[in-house]
Amino acid sequence: MTKEVILSGMQPTGQLHLGNLEGALRHWVKLQNDYEMYCCIVDWHALTSDYDQTSQLHDRIMEVAIDYLSAGLDPEKCAIFVQSQVKEHAELHLLFSMIVPIPWLERVPSYKEKSVELGLDSYGFLGYPLLQAADILIYKANWVPVGKDQLPHIELTREVARKFNGLYGDVFPEPQGKLSQAHAILGIDNRKMSKSYNNDICMGESDESTAKKISTMYTDPTKIRMGDPGHPDECPVYLLHKIYNPDHLTIHRDCSTGKLGCVKCKKICAEQTNVALKPIRQRRAELEKDLTYVKKVLESGADRARAKAQKTMEDVRKAMKLW
Ligand code: TRP
Repeated sequence: MTKEVILSGMQPTGQLHLGNLEGALRHWVKLQNDYEMYCCIVDWHALTSDYDQTSQLHDRIMEVAIDYLSAGLDPEKCAIFVQSQVKEHAELHLLFSMIVPIPWLERVPSYKEKSVELGLDSYGFLGYPLLQAADILIYKANWVPVGKDQLPHIELTREVARKFNGLYGDVFPEPQGKLSQAHAILGIDNRKMSKSYNNDICMGESDESTAKKISTMYTDPTKIRMGDPGHPDECPVYLLHKIYNPDHLTIHRDCSTGKLGCVKCKKICAEQTNVALKPIRQRRAELEKDLTYVKKVLESGADRARAKAQKTMEDVRKAMKLW
């Protein structure tokens, strides 16, 4: 029986955080058992905005690879690789750029938002979602595990596949997004956890730093004094309890009745979070000492990915009657 294919990707942002872990990686780790899986670190995508900060790119790629492995992605089960190591992504992106009308790209919500917000106006930035479509379609992926914010990119990918198939014959399946059921984690300021907001707790954060960050976390603003009843379901600290503290129901009850104050609650939260993350952090520390191994994983992952990508490109060139 042939397995369905999954392609997933993350930008090389450096050390990943608990939002990445709980929102994406845990889901990927489960999926790797049942699918033919490709986990990509999309370094070319990083250049669509941070083209002037390439000196840190190499280290950031390594950090992401280490976090992938420490979360439990198994290089025997899934191909872990760097996008720029499989040049075929670029060839497919180029060919797609010939058939995709510019308005399709201008319509993508992230383009409008970010081009204004970040002042980005490059050709490559406009093509961001088309490069993503190439990442996905070059593996003939059936599923793409992503957050809701990425669904417009998957929709564009489907349109590109449809247009290509209509012009040249059936080569690509139309992939679908696969949303995870995970609880969202919020950052210490109650916004979405994100490196760029500087509100994140890293997977590899030390115990002390984790406790310090949790101690400064936003909490229910109506709970001012110790005895005031709180609203745990609206509190980002409680979101961490729900994931990391097996006894979170007691926290919920004692916060709601006013028995438990925020200082104590945060202290317990930090302890439980650190206990739960200990195996991941230990593995992380070991991998950091063995970068040669991590590089080998990326090389053999790229070899596997490239073999599949080259096959797809043969189909593409044949369908398009290229040499
Ligand atoms: N755009 C994705 C993000 O910001 C990253 C990405 C690039 C990606 N190529 C991909 C995700 C292919 C899934 C599949 O998270």
